[in-house]
Amino acid sequence: MQQYALLTFFVVILLSLSTPACKHDPVLPGGSDPTDTTDNPIDTTGNPGGVGVPCDPDSVYFQNQILPILVSNCTESGCHNTTDHQDGVILTSYQSLMSTVENVTDNNWDENKLMKVLLEDDPDDRMPYNKAPLPQTQINLIAAWIQQGAKNNGCNENYGACETTNVQYSAFVRPLIQARCQGCHSGNAPQGGINLSTYANVKSVASNGKLYAAVTRTADWMPKGGTKLDQCTIDKLKAWIDAGAPEN
Ligand code: HEC
Repeated sequence: MQQYALLTFFVVILLSLSTPACKHDPVLPGGSDPTDTTDNPIDTTGNPGGVGVPCDPDSVYFQNQILPILVSNCTESGCHNTTDHQDGVILTSYQSLMSTVENVTDNNWDENKLMKVLLEDDPDDRMPYNKAPLPQTQINLIAAWIQQGAKNNGCNENYGACETTNVQYSAFVRPLIQARCQGCHSGNAPQGGINLSTYANVKSVASNGKLYAAVTRTADWMPKGGTKLDQCTIDKLKAWIDAGAPEN
């Protein structure tokens, strides 16, 4: 094992001495990138149904489709990660790609250094270095992403996949109300005269439409003064109400 590590070490040293991993010139202009439109963060908070934007099949998304290609093909040890950055190139994020590779937004593949190294015929100059070229489908995807503006975009692959069948009062509705509503809606003087601490009371506001209306108001929604329930939670609540607000 140790021998192997040592051998790998020497091979890496030799390779880096003999041939540069990437022949394109590093460019480090710094500053912020005007095409950075990180306005669609991918949801990682456990409510995958309704956060962000749904994936449009006609769009190519950097975070979902392009970055994974770069990370899996280019950022291994000795290549383009934050430690090794061969030729100054770092491909671990949108920001690093844009600031260390020249002309990534350029639609001319001779000027665009990312496309240039991917399309290079000479295996010594082509990226990924010392490996087979990227599959044509991946190259096409990167090209399409650039043609669409090379934006730092992302989409929610689970959008609409919120599970709304057989929503349970015991497992979903009661815990939700306990966590988000009962502080105000219980006790001797519940806010708004609404006590949500028993099933019967919850069912009554569910059945008369007030429950759904209260959480979907465009202003002054419930929980009052709090963050609006996310769309998936609202959809589940609605499914439960539509099913007759059962005590299941
Ligand atoms: C910080 C206190 C507070 C929290 C938390 C809160 N509410 Fe309320 N709620 C009120 C007050 C005050 C009213 C009466 C004024 C109003 O309707 O805005 C009210 C009114 C209501 C009404 C009656 C609305 C109507 O049309 O008469 C419903 C239903 C309701 N809340 C449901 C909820 C639900 C469901 C939650 C949790 C998701 C919740 N509330 C969380 C304070 C709160």
